[in-house]
Amino acid sequence: MRKPVIAGNWKMYKLLSDAVETSLELKRLVANANHCEVVIAPVFTALKTIADRVEGSNIKVAAQDCSIQNDFGAHTGEVAPVMIKDVGCSHVIVGHSERRQFYGETDESVNWKTMAGLAAGLTPIVCVGEKLEEREAGNAESVVKTQLEGGLKGLTVSDLERIIIAYEPVWAIGTGKTATPEQAQEMHGFIRGVVAETHGAEAAEGLRILYGGSVKPDNIVELMAQEDVDGALVGGASLDAASFAKIVNYKQ
Ligand code: PGA
Repeated sequence: MRKPVIAGNWKMYKLLSDAVETSLELKRLVANANHCEVVIAPVFTALKTIADRVEGSNIKVAAQDCSIQNDFGAHTGEVAPVMIKDVGCSHVIVGHSERRQFYGETDESVNWKTMAGLAAGLTPIVCVGEKLEEREAGNAESVVKTQLEGGLKGLTVSDLERIIIAYEPVWAIGTGKTATPEQAQEMHGFIRGVVAETHGAEAAEGLRILYGGSVKPDNIVELMAQEDVDGALVGGASLDAASFAKIVNYKQ
């Protein structure tokens, strides 16, 4: 069975002291959560400290982005996946819509980052999702399909076992406007179908697909009740330990 993943994307929030405080509080609040994997994604400068502080607990740490390659070299400002792994992280978010919208991320760079992340032994959380105008024009599925095919290009079936997909409709991110559980299920089922075509039914069946976009304590239960929703990528509601813990503990 697919073990659910609840991941918190802290974006560019929290100075180190705040990040440490939140992660220590979270560690206490989710100590008994064995029904899912818990991941938090602080900014780069906090990764090592947070990874050290949560070591041995059930919280894993993700970077929010990475370089397209692991070879050391003259790449000012870049951080290689091997460096992220080196400081104790296990996951990396790739292709978040904010990076696609504002920082030039393309399906091709998402593909490179995913491969580099895998090569470093990280679990890439590959984000896809359509914009409002794309949904309104009836193109949501074709946009997501293109992102998936581009992002996962060249990946083997065993690579697929080591990645996580996050479906995040752009119109639902930070807007308070969540996709309905039906809308989420519809797209998650579609994504699983696309992966079945590209990588076979077994790979698709094992793939974990997270929903992201205004997930909160009061909508997590109905989202998780959907057959193809295997977890959540949470932004705003993950910044507060108590609120994120409620989402993690949706089952209790
Ligand atoms: P949100 O962000 O939960 O604040 O909508 C989700 C995300 O961007 O991953």
